[in-house]
Amino acid sequence: MRKTVYLPNAKFSKKAHVSTLSQYKDMYQESIDNPCEFWGNIAKQFHWETPISADKFFSYNFDITKGPIFIKWLEGATTNICYNLLDRNIRNGHGDKIAFYWEGNDPEDYSRLTYRKLLKEVCRFANVLKTRGVTKGDRVAIYMPMILEVVVAMLACCRIGAVHSLVFAGFSSESLGERMFDCKCKVLVTADGAWRGTKLIRLKELCDAGMERCKSLGHEVETCIVVEHLLRLNAAQGCPSNGTEPHTNGDTAKVKMLEGRDVWWHEEMEDAPSSCYPVWMDAEDPLFMLYTSGSTGKPKGVLHTTAGYLLYAATTFKYVFDYRPGDVYWCTADVGWITGHTYVVYGPLACGATSVVFEGTPFHPDNDRYWQVVDKYKVTQFYTAPTAIRALMKFGDEPVQRHSLHTLKVLGSVGEPINPEAWLWYYTRVGHENCSIADTFWQTETGGHVITPLPGCTPMKPGSATFPFFGVLPALLDESGQEVRGPGEGYLVFRRPWPGIMRTLFGNHDRFETTYFSRFPGYYCTGDGARRDEDGYLWVTGRVDDMLNISGHLLSTAEVESVLVEHPLVAEAAVVSRPHPVKGECLYCFVTPNDGVAFASKLSDELKFRVREKIGPFATPEVIQHAPGLPKTRSGKIMRRVLRKIALNDRDIGDISTLADETIVEALFQNRPSDAQS
Ligand code: WTA
Repeated sequence: MRKTVYLPNAKFSKKAHVSTLSQYKDMYQESIDNPCEFWGNIAKQFHWETPISADKFFSYNFDITKGPIFIKWLEGATTNICYNLLDRNIRNGHGDKIAFYWEGNDPEDYSRLTYRKLLKEVCRFANVLKTRGVTKGDRVAIYMPMILEVVVAMLACCRIGAVHSLVFAGFSSESLGERMFDCKCKVLVTADGAWRGTKLIRLKELCDAGMERCKSLGHEVETCIVVEHLLRLNAAQGCPSNGTEPHTNGDTAKVKMLEGRDVWWHEEMEDAPSSCYPVWMDAEDPLFMLYTSGSTGKPKGVLHTTAGYLLYAATTFKYVFDYRPGDVYWCTADVGWITGHTYVVYGPLACGATSVVFEGTPFHPDNDRYWQVVDKYKVTQFYTAPTAIRALMKFGDEPVQRHSLHTLKVLGSVGEPINPEAWLWYYTRVGHENCSIADTFWQTETGGHVITPLPGCTPMKPGSATFPFFGVLPALLDESGQEVRGPGEGYLVFRRPWPGIMRTLFGNHDRFETTYFSRFPGYYCTGDGARRDEDGYLWVTGRVDDMLNISGHLLSTAEVESVLVEHPLVAEAAVVSRPHPVKGECLYCFVTPNDGVAFASKLSDELKFRVREKIGPFATPEVIQHAPGLPKTRSGKIMRRVLRKIALNDRDIGDISTLADETIVEALFQNRPSDAQS
């Protein structure tokens, strides 16, 4: 029989930062009872230009009925995150330590960067930004592949107090344009292009279209700084061994540079001085913003501030991965997502860690690439997403067994619930039953892990994110807003802020309050449901709003519906989520064409293409089904619950007596397309 509880490796536990459950409980209690002391002690390791004042350490209002929502940590203290990540570590003797090993898409492309070298590059780029007119508070958009320049660009922003706004390079030019318009960025930083496996992505072309879109909306990006990534690879090794399309000089030469707006990174950097005095920021000054999907369509610009985020990124990184000097940590997330912010850049550097940054995919040149990289760099902590684990499981154990993986100690998971099969495969095949699995639940909004095991002390249950991190007070609420005590299920909410929680939505505090604080006054509402078992373990069950999670990417059904109905032949559309064996969830779309328009496969292809173009490749719908009509209540509300059943071909649809026309349901079951097999 399968075990239900897995204990951390005893030898590992002994040396861990937190070795026993009772030690965790004591520390947790202290963090809740005396937050100022708990976080104050942690803050001591960092540099504060203006010291922290004890009476303004922590203040907040989470209750919308009592006034505006606000959260403040360490108000009045000043610091600079870049200074803490780089200069401070160098002063502590880590200047020659490797900050990042870079592993390219092609196994033959790799490099490394020490803390000292990183600081120089950051300062030079900070000076470039200054020359381009960027000052404190200005926004800088970043649309980059996984190359070290992305870290340089982010930290250069921090150095001068500019607010970076990364857009995942898998987003379409439209999405990029709209985000740049929303944040009114002055500068865009990008690269000529990048390889993902055997696919060439022409980033600069996408940026050109994105800047056009942004301009059409009414905002012009002043400067676009372009890293010559493809050309540089080319110069280093002639032709790539990895692709069908060689990245020849001609490729880069094709990059069109608009006189007066577009400049090359390397040319700008050439004469830039390698020192730059940091701009001291108030603890609550904005650090960065990052867009995340909203259930009503338009993406939300989640805003994080300086001091609280620093404390939280550093502390979660240290404890959740049990990081110690000498370890080599690797997070596979793209830096365009929050995981890439907190656990590729800020958390690891705040702890003076050595990390791997990987440009490629798990499948290139072969399906053992992850494991090959783990062995190559002797990775001790590995952090990835369930969707990647499921995709790799499909190839069986052989690709994993080709590698020793004996350096691994902690295996992390993030982005969606991890199903027990994937958990067990990760635990046994990758971790050889020696590693702790950290199933970390958190969100763009939470800034860092909020529910997670600690690898040295938490007995693990496959599929459970277990217990709250220090400072986090979760609760489960029923429909009426009452707290569910003991075992039970409900809306997952938090009762008070921890240092790393977002402070607002950029330019829209009202939306911030309504989205997260209006449904249950007094609580931050995650939008997820969760269950508490008899041992107090928390199991996140998934979104309770109209959001879905495709391969760890959050998306709202409303966003996709609005793209579908923009098509001139479409009258109406409804989108639901359907479980998917690898991606976790996928999009199943019901489309009603205009009167008199026949539904053809051409329309279906066009619609898929549109969603891809408008949002990004990861959002491409799995199924487009012709819907002669949609199941609506008499008041005109679409019954999505019924559509979810049709998507699954599950006839157990329950009560549909409130539908205006019940016959539509059977018609939809009959109409399921051949590619909709579930
Ligand atoms: C989901 C990613 C279950 C959840 C860091 C959340 C998870 C959304 C887990 C946030 C997990 C993330 N178990 N569900 N360990 N981690 N989620 O903003 O639905 O991209 O609300 O942040 O992902 O996604 P986001």
